[in-house]
Amino acid sequence: MAKEKTNYCCSECGGVTPKWLGKCPHCNAWNTLIESVVESAAPARNRFASLAKTATVATLGDIEATDLDRTPTGHEELDRVLGGGMVEGGVVLIGGDPGIGKSTLLLQALDSLQRSGRSTLYVTGEESGAQIALRSRRLGLGHSQVKVLAEIQLDKILATLEATKPDIAVIDSIQTVYSEQLTSAPGSVAQVRECAAHLTRCAKASGVGMVLVGHVTKEGALAGPRVLEHMVDTVLYFEGDTHSSFRLVRAIKNRFGAVNEIGVFAMTEKGLKGVSNPSAIFLSQHAEPVPGSCVMVTLEGTRPMLVEIQALVDSGGPSPRRLSVGLDKDRLAMLLAVLHRHAGVACMDQDVFVNAVGGVRISEPAADLAVLLAITSSLRGKPLPKGFLAFGEVGLAGEVRPAPRGQERLKEAAKLGFSVAVVPMANAPKKPIEGLTIHAVGRVEQAMEVVRSL
Ligand code: TYD
Ligand code: MG
Repeated sequence: MAKEKTNYCCSECGGVTPKWLGKCPHCNAWNTLIESVVESAAPARNRFASLAKTATVATLGDIEATDLDRTPTGHEELDRVLGGGMVEGGVVLIGGDPGIGKSTLLLQALDSLQRSGRSTLYVTGEESGAQIALRSRRLGLGHSQVKVLAEIQLDKILATLEATKPDIAVIDSIQTVYSEQLTSAPGSVAQVRECAAHLTRCAKASGVGMVLVGHVTKEGALAGPRVLEHMVDTVLYFEGDTHSSFRLVRAIKNRFGAVNEIGVFAMTEKGLKGVSNPSAIFLSQHAEPVPGSCVMVTLEGTRPMLVEIQALVDSGGPSPRRLSVGLDKDRLAMLLAVLHRHAGVACMDQDVFVNAVGGVRISEPAADLAVLLAITSSLRGKPLPKGFLAFGEVGLAGEVRPAPRGQERLKEAAKLGFSVAVVPMANAPKKPIEGLTIHAVGRVEQAMEVVRSL
């Protein structure tokens, strides 16, 4: 293919320069120029005239809505986050830390799809064909018919997609693919944007269901331009603690299904296995409920997460200590004062230790109610009931304030098998949530009363 010209486009003002500069000559912003391929030159002044005749405008009501043809991947947990399976021409972006299991899951999914009669293609830029073969043996897929292409050059990948016309293709990973049109290195913003745009166009035009694997940055966001997430139909995130074998796959965006849907997997000797009853993960730590433990649902960013809050209240010395891990220490002091003043529970001469299990940091005030209930439970030596959870902000006047997106939190808890919840009045759902008994409270004393009666 003839080498097209490139220029540099400012990500701030959209201004264009023919060569790279540190400072945009149009808006004077620094480091904003990104390499991009020049659009073919505009031909004549009335260049749209002929095009208008070929394009058809239709009334929305007249357009026939066809049901999406979904191809189940054969992995129930993955299908759940995809909204039922892969969609023809749909593009999925899947991100996650290195070594979390992206390649493993996708290879397993491709093999199941191939077995069910779909043609598949696995494009790898990170590992050699031999490494993939080794992995497939480990997964017990020794005789797999999945086609593998070890290639990083965009044009060759597009040509192979064109020639083999697979039903489902995986590109592992988008950061390794590069286009010869651009001089910047693979993985750079310009390359990732350009390659993803070409691959997405190819998927839409040919009807290939495509999965792009994306790296994540140190902060946990998908590496590369944000526009990548806009380009694709579905964005999935792989999450999990490196110390545990459990992995969560979460849908952050899905044009073909619900967002915030999660799929739970366990990494085993033979690859990832779906966990059909994920509540067991969180309840397995204590065979029976123990005093000083209360589960809450936290929503940092867009992802609801169930976290156990632990508290230990023990008789202290002349100057009792207040210690918190993963929670704000000043807030703990404030909550203890509220507990004393409004609920009549005094911990003045006690050491109070609070911990958010699993090394998570919870910065949102929705943890307040769970912290107070865990403290009271430890002080009284009385465990909270099995399957119990609580969330809500607590104010200085003793009121329980709503947490944002309470419904989502409750749905997540119900999905994970929790059965009793104490929540702020304003978070009480209008329609009952199946399997979850909800006690809506307006004040701290009320919450204590509810817990005592359970
Ligand atoms: P991988 O899929 O290569 O991660 P990613 O593509 O997200 O970087 O996962 C590799 C990890 O999974 C590695 O640490 C080994 C582990 N693993 C298992 O525990 N069991 C298995 O059967 C396989 C294939 C990998
Ligand atoms: Mg990989």
